[in-house]
Amino acid sequence: MRLKADLLITHAKLATLAGGTGPRRGLAMRQVGFIDKGVVALAAGKIVFAGTETDLQSAELEVQTVWDAGGRLVTPGLIDAHTHLVHAGSREKELSLKLQGVPYLDILSQGGGILSTVRATQSATEPQLTAQALVSLRHMLEHGTTTVEAKSGYGLNRTTELKQLRVTQALNGLQPVELVSTFLGPHALPPEYRDRSHQFIDEMITLADEVWSLGLAEFADIFCERGVFSVAESRRYLTACRNLGYGLKLHADEIDALGGTELAAELQALTVDHVVAASLDGLRAAAAAGVIAVLLPGTSWNLSGSYAKARFLMDVADGAVALATDYNPGSCPSESLQLIMAFAANGLHMTPEEILTAVTRNAAYAVGRGEKIGRLEAGWQADLCVWETPELAFLPYHFGVNHIHRVYKRGVLVVADGHLISGLHNPESVLPSHLDSSQRSV
Ligand code: NIG
Ligand code: FE
Repeated sequence: MRLKADLLITHAKLATLAGGTGPRRGLAMRQVGFIDKGVVALAAGKIVFAGTETDLQSAELEVQTVWDAGGRLVTPGLIDAHTHLVHAGSREKELSLKLQGVPYLDILSQGGGILSTVRATQSATEPQLTAQALVSLRHMLEHGTTTVEAKSGYGLNRTTELKQLRVTQALNGLQPVELVSTFLGPHALPPEYRDRSHQFIDEMITLADEVWSLGLAEFADIFCERGVFSVAESRRYLTACRNLGYGLKLHADEIDALGGTELAAELQALTVDHVVAASLDGLRAAAAAGVIAVLLPGTSWNLSGSYAKARFLMDVADGAVALATDYNPGSCPSESLQLIMAFAANGLHMTPEEILTAVTRNAAYAVGRGEKIGRLEAGWQADLCVWETPELAFLPYHFGVNHIHRVYKRGVLVVADGHLISGLHNPESVLPSHLDSSQRSV
């Protein structure tokens, strides 16, 4: 074997997630492909070799740089398969309502919650939205997230939805994290459409058509929930989006068992997200239809303390599970997938191996990129996390701090010693002038 590489990482403990096709289901989610004395070679942004030191010894090597990982754990870059990244403002004022026991859906029906972020996002400029998202993306990257799915849905009208989606598209070129865009036009019913939800869905289908022709999103999503959009409305919207070419996602059965999980199975959606209240039949049907369940334990921890039935999904239904932050200013104001990994252990009773699979290989399939990212395997993109520890279980066990040592994105070192390499990510250039200097030092 002849190997030409820009970088050779040696003395690493690899979790490769390599081999086979498709997301890992059920018990197979525990196969992370550990290699104790591992090496990874990168060239032109891709992995050209990931395997044992012994296998490499037989190769004829032409390597520019060698870096000794000191026995640390090396995994694929983390993939956050469900976020509401681009939005304006925050909702810390709702914390006291939550602590008084006011339910999430009641805050929404009183015009707060999602609708308050909608008002803030409608009045924000593109540079303001960009500046706020750049701060979040920096946190994400420093915590090991190299690809992020980002939903619209704080517009609820044409102008603001397009504004959010344009910002998402532009962010791809402003910093290293790769963004995957989802159109979530029907995220809430604007108050002026009360009793006219049929008309709102019609308008969102028209907008989905425009968004698709502008190339601004590749997935379509809807909030299928009691008091938001019904199963029938979700079916109509998602079927129209599928006919336009979109891949399908659903916020389903997050709070009430409405039947969105069954709908995801019927439509063979790519993912069904939340599923906290889903029926066992719904979970079984979704798993059997090959729908990936994207579980969001940060939202459970923050809102209700009720968690999705992850063990049923994996042990009984033989389903594929991915994990994501759901990062948004209401139900989960945290960008850290590492924190979500801890919640997945305690709240979803997932093992460290299942958790890693759910934030790498399975999350890659959940964003339609399973054949490109999510593994350490020759031919896959060189997105890598080097962790401070050699022990995978240390990550969900020791929670609330950052365990990243290095991050590589497309073969480029972007985080070293846990910090972003300066010059790669420059919010200064887009920060609105009214922000003071403390907010500028991001
Ligand atoms: O996934 N449930 C609907 N949407 C988001 C929350 C959005 C918000 O509260 O602003 C979620 O939890
Ligand atoms: Fe969400």
